[in-house]
Amino acid sequence: MRIAVYPGTFDPITKGHLDVLERAQRLFDKVVIAVAVNTGKAPLFSVEERVELAKESVKSLKSPCEVLCFDGLLVDFVQSQGACAIIRGLRAVSDFEFEFQMALMNRKLRQEVETIFLMPRESYTYLSSSIIREVAKLGGDISNFVTPHVESVLKEKFKKN
Ligand code: COA
Repeated sequence: MRIAVYPGTFDPITKGHLDVLERAQRLFDKVVIAVAVNTGKAPLFSVEERVELAKESVKSLKSPCEVLCFDGLLVDFVQSQGACAIIRGLRAVSDFEFEFQMALMNRKLRQEVETIFLMPRESYTYLSSSIIREVAKLGGDISNFVTPHVESVLKEKFKKN
């Protein structure tokens, strides 16, 4: 059984993430979404909310996907899941430097874990969670970029705030 872990902040999960996830599911027997508790960012959604949004969003996919959260080192979580690979999405050249640094550090920490980079569909290459949050906050249409559930939760969040 070949297992991969797809980590991220997922604040919130977008259709770009789901696109990468589906590509990974075609390559591995099982892919686990790993929502990071601490990311050095100040997420809009709590970790519980980010996990819930991801769980709801993956229901739209053909294959089931487990969604978990993790704290501490990513490579330790990967090992705890019996996984052999980390999935990361590469949207543009600008992603490369950070991703390269992270992949090499993770390899240094645990040599047997490979990082696999997958490119999302072109129409999602300019997407990011922060751009979605900003458009939603200003009342723009985000329906093409997130699932209906994420869209309604985002709208609700900004109405409250
Ligand atoms: N579609 C849409 N957006 C995408 C995307 C895609 N396919 N791929 C990446 N993104 C966006 C994300 O939405 C996010 O946008 P934002 O910055 O506007 O919120 C951005 O690209 C990158 O975020 P993400 O992919 O979630 O990664 P991250 O940089 O937030 O997460 C961790 C990095 C959590 C994986 C990393 O910090 C980690 O592993 N932490 C654990 C501690 C550890 O082991 N540290 C050592 C690592 S060497």
